[in-house]
Amino acid sequence: MDCLVLKNIYSTYYSGNRLLPVLDGISLQVGDGEFVSVLGPSGSGKSTILKLAAGLLKPDQGQVLVDGEETAGHSQLVSYMPQQDLLFPWKTLQDNAVLPLLAAGLDRHTARARIGKLLPTFGLEGFADYYPHQLSGGMRQRAALLRTMMVDSNLMLLDEPFAALDALTRENLQDWLLKIWSRYRRSVLFVTHSIDEAIYLSDRIYVITERPGRISLEQKITLPKPKVRSMVTAPEFSLYKKILLEALHQETSWEDGGKIEGETF
Ligand SMILES: Nc1ncnc2c1ncn2[C@@H]1O[C@H](COP(=O)(O)OP(=O)(O)O)[C@@H](O)[C@H]1O
Ligand SMILES: [Mg+2]
Repeated sequence: MDCLVLKNIYSTYYSGNRLLPVLDGISLQVGDGEFVSVLGPSGSGKSTILKLAAGLLKPDQGQVLVDGEETAGHSQLVSYMPQQDLLFPWKTLQDNAVLPLLAAGLDRHTARARIGKLLPTFGLEGFADYYPHQLSGGMRQRAALLRTMMVDSNLMLLDEPFAALDALTRENLQDWLLKIWSRYRRSVLFVTHSIDEAIYLSDRIYVITERPGRISLEQKITLPKPKVRSMVTAPEFSLYKKILLEALHQETSWEDGGKIEGETF
């Protein structure tokens, strides 16, 4: 069964006294154990899709189903990593990471022991008592991912977790995330505006257009697994890149850099 289904979602925000259409008929699924990305330009509604999936927002129209059950806009138990790194600056790495375990009812001692065991896997051994400002950007993102994974849920929603990192750190974390993913086999909905990142990580990619977001392409990625970095220079990789680039720019006119009004597909 698909662990996440979005069915014909329409979503708007109030902006000033105007209704801003953000998502225009979005349907997508994430299968069990699948790594799915949403790729789209800034402002296309990617974060809105994740907020809907997390139950933090209610769509104007359409359905959100997690494990076959309609969520009706109330927050359910999914692990969601928002776009900003939301580690509490006044708490140590360990005390940030234990929060979902404490919320689930574990006592502090057991929760800390469990986090302690996982620190090496997350490349954070020896840093339990460090505060977020004492960690590198990559470490902070790994700590935020560790905390996200402590929510006992099959579905993970990750909103541009590597966007703020330098290229090398980003590539290292992508490889690391794939390792973690194949080890824990969660179902992932991953948001990015990087074509290379989406191809490298995903089993399937949805391309969404500029606001109001519509799906312009659903692309399965069949690169051999486990993924290796040298793959990014392979002809298949370039072919995917070409297809995705075309889908991304379908509605963008290069002359005025804006959206061609009224065009549908
Ligand atoms: N709370 C909000 N109120 C009003 N407008 C919003 C709000 N959140 C997002 N928007 C607008 O909705 C559009 C989509 O936002 P978002 O989902 O964050 O896009 P993305 O993550 O793809 O950059 C943007 O134009 C943004 O300005
Ligand atoms: Mg966003």
